[in-house]
Amino acid sequence: MIDYAKLAGKEIQGLSPYVPGKPVKELERELGIEKAVKLASNENPLGPSPKVIQAVADFLPEMSRYPYGDVFYLRTKLASKLGINADRLIFGTGSNEIIELAMRTFLARDEHVMSPSPSFSVYGIIAQAMRASCRWIPVKSDFSFDFEALTANINEKTRLIFLGNPNNPTGTYFNQETLEAFMKKVPAETIVVMDEAYCEYVDAPDFPDTMKMQKDYPNMMIMRTFSKAYGLAALRVGYCIADPAAIDMMNRVRQPFNTNMAAQVAAEAALQDTDHLKKVIRENRMGKAYLYGEFEKLGFEYLPTQANFILVKTGSGEKVFTDLLKKGVIVRYLGSGLKDYIRVSVGTEEENKIFIEQLKAVL
Ligand SMILES: Cc1ncc(COP(=O)(O)O)c(C=O)c1O
Repeated sequence: MIDYAKLAGKEIQGLSPYVPGKPVKELERELGIEKAVKLASNENPLGPSPKVIQAVADFLPEMSRYPYGDVFYLRTKLASKLGINADRLIFGTGSNEIIELAMRTFLARDEHVMSPSPSFSVYGIIAQAMRASCRWIPVKSDFSFDFEALTANINEKTRLIFLGNPNNPTGTYFNQETLEAFMKKVPAETIVVMDEAYCEYVDAPDFPDTMKMQKDYPNMMIMRTFSKAYGLAALRVGYCIADPAAIDMMNRVRQPFNTNMAAQVAAEAALQDTDHLKKVIRENRMGKAYLYGEFEKLGFEYLPTQANFILVKTGSGEKVFTDLLKKGVIVRYLGSGLKDYIRVSVGTEEENKIFIEQLKAVL
């Protein structure tokens, strides 16, 4: 008999697959109900722009053709919107693929990546799948990143440092001054990947201008996505802004048609509908204010967020999560250092109200 576990090796055996938020339809089937509410995966509750839906519908008859391997039209539009040269961009099947591309291109087996913890677990999963590792550096008690500890742990084997800003699952951010001070201490051959999946939602005036900083720090990469504020999570499209030499190397590793054509067409249309994006951000801001107010009335501590989700201290996070699930509301329980918390994505006005109602009911 073939021993697949042995063939895969100890790193793969030691991996736990990423557990996504439960799909709404699955919960509805399990509970035999019609209207479950999912506030678990930081999706856009308003959905994509109607112009995106039209653009994808118009594209569908063309699906027998391969996509543009070089993502030409989307690349050109995005570059012009960002005010950069198109050779500074690479696209992927969500920013998840950008994480993987960066590691496959630059990370050797005996090297490691680093990230504050808690943060996005995928950094660790991909590093380990590559037979390398991730050094998780605990955040401080107020959930801010411990930049001194991050700096102290860098050595010549630290190839990539992932900094979620705003961070998931905390929603917290760090400012320009903090990032400048850190970058000055990072060796030139350690790549700092700024994971800005939620940047469109940010209100903070001192949020780092990373695109400007890249001029001084060619070892800084920026990762963004169309999955969140643009509402294209199912289509899978994310991108990376980096030094053209880094993009060139990642392009050699990239699968030829990694960004599917529906995603390219949708992202292009999404970029054009700035009114829809503004509406999404406005709704999120209102939803945040409502949830903050309700948490305060309930006496719950929460972390002020720069994103579209809130980490809230309900106590007994797992029980609250499970009880809410039985009521048809899906939130996220993160476990480990966050046992007293749940993470809730900001939904529509109606979804937020249902969540609060059911939260009160399970307490
Ligand atoms: C911090 C962070 N980075 C990256 C991603 C990946 O998003 P996607 O692959 O959909 O672009 C997520 C998704 O939840 C995230 O929270």
